[in-house]
Amino acid sequence: MSLRGPGAAEAQAQHGERLAVDGGPPVHRGPWPAWPQPTEAEEAAVLRVVRDGTWCSAARGVRVVEAFEEAFATLHAASPAAPASPLQPEGARLGAVACSSGTAALILALEAAGVGPGDEVIVPPYTFIATASACLFLGAVPVFADVEPRTLCLDPEAVRRAWTPRTKAVVPVHFAGCPADLGALSALCAERGAALVEDACQAPGAAWRGRPVGSWGTFGCFSFQESKNLSAGEGGAVTGSAPGIDLVWSLHNVGRQRGGAWYGHPRIGQNARMTALQAALLQAQLGRFEDLARRREAGAAALLEALAAVPGILPLAPPPEVTRHAWHLFAFRFDPAAFGGHSRAEFLRALGAEGVPASAGYTLLSGNEAVQRRARANAARGGAPEPRYEDAPLPVAAAAAQDCCWMAHPVLLAGEGEVVAAAAAMAKIQRAWTRAG
Ligand SMILES: Cc1ncc(COP(=O)(O)O)c(C=O)c1O
Repeated sequence: MSLRGPGAAEAQAQHGERLAVDGGPPVHRGPWPAWPQPTEAEEAAVLRVVRDGTWCSAARGVRVVEAFEEAFATLHAASPAAPASPLQPEGARLGAVACSSGTAALILALEAAGVGPGDEVIVPPYTFIATASACLFLGAVPVFADVEPRTLCLDPEAVRRAWTPRTKAVVPVHFAGCPADLGALSALCAERGAALVEDACQAPGAAWRGRPVGSWGTFGCFSFQESKNLSAGEGGAVTGSAPGIDLVWSLHNVGRQRGGAWYGHPRIGQNARMTALQAALLQAQLGRFEDLARRREAGAAALLEALAAVPGILPLAPPPEVTRHAWHLFAFRFDPAAFGGHSRAEFLRALGAEGVPASAGYTLLSGNEAVQRRARANAARGGAPEPRYEDAPLPVAAAAAQDCCWMAHPVLLAGEGEVVAAAAAMAKIQRAWTRAG
């Protein structure tokens, strides 16, 4: 039975467990780990570039940016023992192009994949707007396909159903750091001749069946925005193999050709270059990337174990093919029925009062009016059918937009002993709201 209304807080206090939202003591006091966490090595690396005056990647700063690109590509390159991807030629060398943001990475990759007016691009509706807006900038139309309940990543069967003769690319999002089903999606795209552009903005270092994200698809796209696991405030990267990755390089560098003349522009491209300051910061950060990844994994494992005992809190359940999860977010579904009928908003408020930061996450992107307007305009100009987003069958994503909760990765860095306070706070709220009065 739910404890609500006048007297509820007093009744809970009698049980010695007054919720912090009702004036009781919080489960967790003090700050969680800050993010980003600048180190002396990062400061020194940036200072070196500042003092050298080698700031621009189109000039003398190119060496710093290329060193980061090399290291980032190596981090995501498949080992010889990894399964093959039908979209990557056997033995192809993975390259990376550093750029200005994850949004820019997605636009560059889709443009290099040939996406343009009249084309359709299949995307999930449970994601950040850039996943869909990238193809809108190119005059194409996003088509929304539903996500899988176990990961909230694009469902290959839903992709099949959403496919039309206009489908030019598929953009799965590795939501929260968990890879989408890259085996099924790469096979489908290879079979039907479409590009697979991985939105790996939340998933650097993650892997599906031992093969890193960014090495399965035609291209992989990453973000180094401040909240991300690898961060330079802003920044992005595209991974892929030649000749596609060379086209990305040209498109991000005002249409220049690698090794070509400064004023030689065989095609039209934007300036989406990363500065050497960002690259130096990222290169230094790579030195502790593995350590931080392991700490997130340990934190997530401790939290999963503790949450197994909390009714109504249902963490996502990645399949065994997810051999590495980047844990950018710790996402779970909230069941109000197990919390005395209290809403997600009430739960998040109570959890915040207990000292545990969490948020409600995405709304359904297919319902965004700006996306709908631009998609309709692009369809009309490109001669594509008018998108009917209101008719799209998206039950899993729609439910997630209502009941999913997120904790950001810095909480997982707190250490196994401290992170379980988040589960203790949820259990406390659950008990308080279901205790017989
Ligand atoms: C899934 C996803 N896609 C794309 C982006 C865009 O990246 P950026 O903010 O670097 O443009 C982000 C991050 O914000 C993201 O989380």
